[in-house]
Amino acid sequence: MSSDEAPTPRSVDTLCARAPAPANTSSRPLVPPLELAVVYCPQDLGHVDALYDRSAQGYIYARERHPNADQLAAKIAALEGAESALVCASGMAAISAAILPLLGQGDHLLLAAELYGKTTVLVARELARLGITHTTFDAANPSDLASKITPRTRAILIETLSNPLLRVADLASIALAARAWGVPLIVDNTFAPVICRPIEQGAALVVHSATKMIGGHSDLTLGVVAGLAPLVEGARATAAAFGLTGNPFESWLALRGLATLPVRMERASRTAHLLGQRFEAEPRVRRVWYPLLDSHPDSQRAGALLSAGGSMLTIEIGGRAEVDAFMRALPSIPFAPSLGDVQTTLSHPCTTSHRGQDPQTLERLGIVPGVVRISVGLEDPEDLWREFAGALAAVERVAREGAR
Ligand SMILES: Cc1ncc(COP(=O)(O)O)c(C=O)c1O
Repeated sequence: MSSDEAPTPRSVDTLCARAPAPANTSSRPLVPPLELAVVYCPQDLGHVDALYDRSAQGYIYARERHPNADQLAAKIAALEGAESALVCASGMAAISAAILPLLGQGDHLLLAAELYGKTTVLVARELARLGITHTTFDAANPSDLASKITPRTRAILIETLSNPLLRVADLASIALAARAWGVPLIVDNTFAPVICRPIEQGAALVVHSATKMIGGHSDLTLGVVAGLAPLVEGARATAAAFGLTGNPFESWLALRGLATLPVRMERASRTAHLLGQRFEAEPRVRRVWYPLLDSHPDSQRAGALLSAGGSMLTIEIGGRAEVDAFMRALPSIPFAPSLGDVQTTLSHPCTTSHRGQDPQTLERLGIVPGVVRISVGLEDPEDLWREFAGALAAVERVAREGAR
């Protein structure tokens, strides 16, 4: 027996309690193994030092780093053209990990006025409690940005395609201003993976809710931060301390989702564009937001910035009663307040993603009770249209009855 071979235990208790020897194999698996280990066993104290200063490759503790998250992070970094990436426990964890290391008491954030509701809540309620202030600006028309920067501004946070009206951020102008002021631009690219690469436009960091298109199957909750290596390392340290990092199983699942992401985005974008055109021709539909439709306020920018229009489509159909009738008439297209699934789903921003926000601000932005957000999936486009057209007819009946 060599000195590093384990002795055969005498007791059945010891035999059962100890981990098995690592598999003795020269075969490489085709797909990444799922590695659920919480902790790794350094050879000695010098090895611990080497692992922490990264002169040796490897792992110590899963909250800090683990193989499945590193595999996912490497793929997302390549997808976004980023130097480095970090996997977090959710999209909100990724946003928190990206911004927290940049902020201290008395600091200031510049924030797009139209954002996922919880991102606004994070800044306006949670960070405000820590003495961090913010100002909003219109990311699609950032002409007043310069007047809103302060000496304490530490970051600018926007979305490529805003949630839910799909306004297209003027990434190039905002990135130019951010660079001139030496402030990092952080872009939430959740709605536009593959179809937009904000880092090429000058963003310092990109964040994703991988729960959505990247995972693609509504069975995992994860987020990603990608971008300049020093900023990602700052996010990594904050994520490890606050416990914001993602777990192995969901990272492994997200890698599986990522394999089909470009195909899903391409197919869903084509269907969403077609449905948008059909909705536009319907008198019952007051308004349609799809970035590549000529009627969209940012269609020109969308054409230049995006390689496809994306899988999100938003319509306005009257008020809350009409939305209720529309959703009830669509039993096969679920009301599911998320997005990015392989199947088409509906959401109602006023009661879900933007719940609890100031109604006047929402009204000013156009996020009114008649707005329905559609996450387009991979079904046959004609099947989808037949169902949507039937639901619009049901809305018409409700409206007629209401008018009597
Ligand atoms: C644009 C955007 N960013 C971030 C998030 C938060 O992601 P998660 O639910 O994974 O925390 C969401 C969730 O809907 C979102 O739509």
